[in-house]
Amino acid sequence: MEKLWAGRFKKELDKTANDFNSSIAFDSRMYRQDIIGSVAHAEMLKAKRIIPEKSAERIIDALYGILDDIDSGALKIDFECEDIHMFVEKVLTERIGDDGKMLHTARSRNDQVALDIRLYLRDMTKKTVSLLMSLIDILCKKAMENADAVMPGYTHLQRAQPITFAHHILAYGMMFRRDVLRIRDAVGRMNESPLGACALAGTTYDTDRDMTASSLGFDGVMMNSIDAVSDRDYCIELMSAFSTVMMHLSRLSEELILWSSWEFKFVELDDSFTTGSSIMPQKKNSDMAELVRGKTGRVYGNLMGMLTVMKGLPLAYNKDMQEDKEAIFESLDTVNMCLEVFCPMIETMSVLKENMLSAAKNGFINATDLADYLTKKGMPFRAAYKLTGTIVARCIDERTVLEELPLEAYKEYSELFEEDLYGEISLKSCVEKRISKGGTGSASVNEQIEFLKKFTSEKND
Ligand code: ARG
Repeated sequence: MEKLWAGRFKKELDKTANDFNSSIAFDSRMYRQDIIGSVAHAEMLKAKRIIPEKSAERIIDALYGILDDIDSGALKIDFECEDIHMFVEKVLTERIGDDGKMLHTARSRNDQVALDIRLYLRDMTKKTVSLLMSLIDILCKKAMENADAVMPGYTHLQRAQPITFAHHILAYGMMFRRDVLRIRDAVGRMNESPLGACALAGTTYDTDRDMTASSLGFDGVMMNSIDAVSDRDYCIELMSAFSTVMMHLSRLSEELILWSSWEFKFVELDDSFTTGSSIMPQKKNSDMAELVRGKTGRVYGNLMGMLTVMKGLPLAYNKDMQEDKEAIFESLDTVNMCLEVFCPMIETMSVLKENMLSAAKNGFINATDLADYLTKKGMPFRAAYKLTGTIVARCIDERTVLEELPLEAYKEYSELFEEDLYGEISLKSCVEKRISKGGTGSASVNEQIEFLKKFTSEKND
């Protein structure tokens, strides 16, 4: 196929080089944004009388026609074209002849591609945000259903202090809330129009960049034409936000995998989100959670890849930057796909409260509360801490737990111990006494649920 730049060249591009150079296989997904951007550009060319009104109108009509035809399947993308920008322009010219050749006045593919990616990401991240919002809602629902489920809280994966399952999963709710904020923040910062920057230096035509920016819903124009066509920081920022989403999903996956094991048995994932083994009939594997954990690697990899692509590029545009699309699209698709499977997986999961409670009973996780009991009766905390440690060691030797050690035994260590100690170290009261803001006590847990529910109910996109 003849290239748009054929005038300058004596030979055709080598077939292998042509395939190597082509990006249409992965940038055709931006056809809508490419066409909408071209419509805005043509409107501006018309308003500024840069091209004749009639030609602009024919261009705009034909562009909408192309959009409809791609949408309906009547027009198939031609993968022989170098990229989606060339494809749309080629079809336009085929359909309306010389008028079509006027569209690219005062524009370059460099500002065009920068525009398309921004528009595409602005559209597509809405889905990511809405999936994250659903996940937060589902976590809140699970928290409400399991507000009374006491489980061990861990540090170093050692049983540490009693918490509720609600409190534990709301921690993830808070993380996903910040993920939403991070994505919105990145999308907000990328919402400046590069269109009209042209190849790198601007143009000799009297264009109106503010007009195209506002008709495409941007907050303004990028103020430096070189910057407008040569940075991909907006992809990197978003990939970094996506990496953080994946890091959070991966940590939760890891816990679900552990909790589903016989060693924990805190939760049971629904049959519809687990798989069996081809050889071991007893197995029920948490494949979805494992895959989410695994796919985190590629999202991190894309971020690192793009940072590396950009680090040595002289200004302005270089073809290296074509690598941005596969990276950002794969990260976007992966995050969305992981969230899509995660939401129903969490929603359908059963929480095995009894098992959580028995694990909580066996780890001396009320030892801090026993030390606090003595401290509140006047013993300095460090001394109380040491004494409690001695009592824990004795319980381990005697294969008992703090709740079951008789009062006489306690009295051997300190006269401060009285009958009320048992109330203080009961698991329920250990949880309820954690009244500090943000703690595991039920008032705080309710406050957290309200906080997150308010966040998800506020429409903000
Ligand atoms: N397909 C190209 C890309 O994705 C479009 C921009 C081409 N610009 C150029 N000067 N060759 O980066």
